Amino acid sequence: MTTRAIFQRYPELQAHLPWQPLAELPTPVHALPGLANGWIKRDDLTHAAYGGNKVRKLEFVIAEMKAKGVRTAYTFGATGTNAGVAAALLCKDAGVALTVYTFDQPDSPTVQRNQALMRAAGANLVHRGTLLATVLTFYLHPARLRSDAYFLFAGCSNPVGVLGYVNAALELADQIAAGELPEPEVIVVPVGSNGTLAGLTVGVQLAGLKSRLVGVRVAESHLGPIQTCTTYAVQQMVNQTTAFLRQHVPTLKELHVQAAPLNEAYFGTGYGVPTDAGKAAITRFANDFAIPLEATYSGKAAAAFLDEVAATTGPVLFWDTFNSRSTDALLGTLKSA
Ligand SMILES: Cc1ncc(COP(=O)(O)O)c(C=O)c1O
Repeated sequence: MTTRAIFQRYPELQAHLPWQPLAELPTPVHALPGLANGWIKRDDLTHAAYGGNKVRKLEFVIAEMKAKGVRTAYTFGATGTNAGVAAALLCKDAGVALTVYTFDQPDSPTVQRNQALMRAAGANLVHRGTLLATVLTFYLHPARLRSDAYFLFAGCSNPVGVLGYVNAALELADQIAAGELPEPEVIVVPVGSNGTLAGLTVGVQLAGLKSRLVGVRVAESHLGPIQTCTTYAVQQMVNQTTAFLRQHVPTLKELHVQAAPLNEAYFGTGYGVPTDAGKAAITRFANDFAIPLEATYSGKAAAAFLDEVAATTGPVLFWDTFNSRSTDALLGTLKSA
């Protein structure tokens, strides 16, 4: 039977948590050739058509939409949002009409490709320009009064989506227990809308792993006075997640989970603005491991990972969050459908 590590560990959750198997899990783990202590978790392969970190979150999000009878969904992200692509594809399959409000991001082939994919998947794209205008459109939307509309936070990082990464950490613990990899001393992951790191932070503690999580900030830290990508913002999401779990799993009453400070050293000059270190890491991953990364998220995190590998004697795990399936093939399929 298809199930998830989170339900095996906490069977009582399954009664409260809509879930639909969409991802191909567990994702593989393996050593990276030529790096004595470098390992990778292949969340680039979470789905046969389009992988990346959003599919894990959408297993819970799409199921919640279906349970609520949702017909239309709204989300927001940068012009090249990977979350928008994953949501557009899986909403299409679920019969949910998706609108994606977008804000400016430096142009790149990945951005262009993601725009084409979202359109081909039938998403309604509305460009709002600045992040502030986009966020205001999202939060003040008149459809918020409708019960069949769903508002999905950027990066698919809403309370149920984050559980996808609690599950991911428990899945990793099962792989460690099965001897597929040693327990990492360090786990490196990019941080944008915070959900991936928040879920992993909770899951690593629940699993009893000693691994130190290094969240590499790649998004703007603030929107005016509001903290958008900071240690505090991650902690808020951690607290929301532990509250949800405590509510449904009575044995978790005493759960106190502390988010580690974000790594600020690889952001560069802006969201989506490539850095030299990120570009070098992308080249290294392409040449040495045949794994494609991009400049906004995974390249910057990979730069941090390579430095952690050099500075650490124990195993260091890179959590690959960027889809590596061929988007040429996907675009062709969508256009011919
Ligand atoms: C490829 C990729 N990696 C990492 C992230 C960051 O994950 P999160 O938004 O959960 O912090 C995102 C999206 O935001 C992404 O598209």
